[in-house]
Amino acid sequence: MKEYFKFYGLVYIFFISAVVVMGTMYINDLPNVTQEKIGGLPMVTKDTTKDTTGVTADLPMIKGTLSPPVEVMKYMAATPEMVDKGKALFTMNCASCHGEQGKGDGVAGASLNPKPRNFHDLNGWTNGPSITMMYKTLQEGIITRGMASYANLPPEDRLNMIMYIRTFLPDYPPVTQVQIDSIDQTYSLTKGVKMPNQIPVKLAMEKMLQKNLSIDDKVKNMVKVINENKNDSSAVILKSVSSNLTKALTVLAQDSSWNNNEAALVKIFDNNAVQNGFRARASYMLSPQQLTQLHAYLRKLFSAS
Ligand code: HEC
Repeated sequence: MKEYFKFYGLVYIFFISAVVVMGTMYINDLPNVTQEKIGGLPMVTKDTTKDTTGVTADLPMIKGTLSPPVEVMKYMAATPEMVDKGKALFTMNCASCHGEQGKGDGVAGASLNPKPRNFHDLNGWTNGPSITMMYKTLQEGIITRGMASYANLPPEDRLNMIMYIRTFLPDYPPVTQVQIDSIDQTYSLTKGVKMPNQIPVKLAMEKMLQKNLSIDDKVKNMVKVINENKNDSSAVILKSVSSNLTKALTVLAQDSSWNNNEAALVKIFDNNAVQNGFRARASYMLSPQQLTQLHAYLRKLFSAS
């Protein structure tokens, strides 16, 4: 019996010390725990605006321009000038992923899967190593596999880079007249091409926020107008079909398809009516005359605010 108590006494002491040790470890670890776990959301603990990968952090602002006609024919044969220009552009735009020597071993590409293409190996390409396919890759990107589109670089820059990439190995497929013609026709290069506008992602997001803000203001104004004239027969109809006026007007502000079209308005009513702030089966509550009246009223309301 005495043995028995002695044994459990020891176990007890062991347990207490284990709890104390674990507790101490927890407290030491506390700064990390709070940073990562509190609120269930990861907290940003480092400055993510600083870019350490060497890849440009955001797109530069570029106004869409008409790029001048390109003499595609001359790319039948690479000149040292094309290769030099191509090399400079490659180093600036591509080496971060594809590596200075084009071996697919750039710093920014290290974590990518699939890996950036190694230009010293012609096997296993997604589009292919012919000039036509490389041009397509640079035009469209292979977005789902981590290769961006470089449609915003002038066609000649892209062709010069292709000329440079071709110097990595002697056995790139020869450039043929048929291929040059095909690039020319597909992208109408000798005619000159329209380059799309490009704006930085950050600016695009700010613009979207601004748009949402102005929608908020607009909706607030409209709700005020409606409430000030709440006995107006059109306002009464609107209120009868909406369960949440602010939400309903926001939905209408974001989707202008209904503007010239009563049927489109009905479609918005019926599409996830309840989530969108309309009453279920809202459209069935209206007579054709009421629908016409409501449509006209909404148009007036939206154009006035
Ligand atoms: C952010 C990293 C990144 C940058 C920067 C980048 N690439 Fe790529 N590139 C990739 C990845 C990843 C692939 C592999 C795609 C695949 O396997 O389909 C690839 C593939 C390619 C291919 C081969 C496509 C094929 O058919 O398999 C070409 C050509 C290419 N890149 C050219 C360029 C050029 C030229 C530039 C610079 C203007 C550039 N890349 C910049 C990541 C990058």
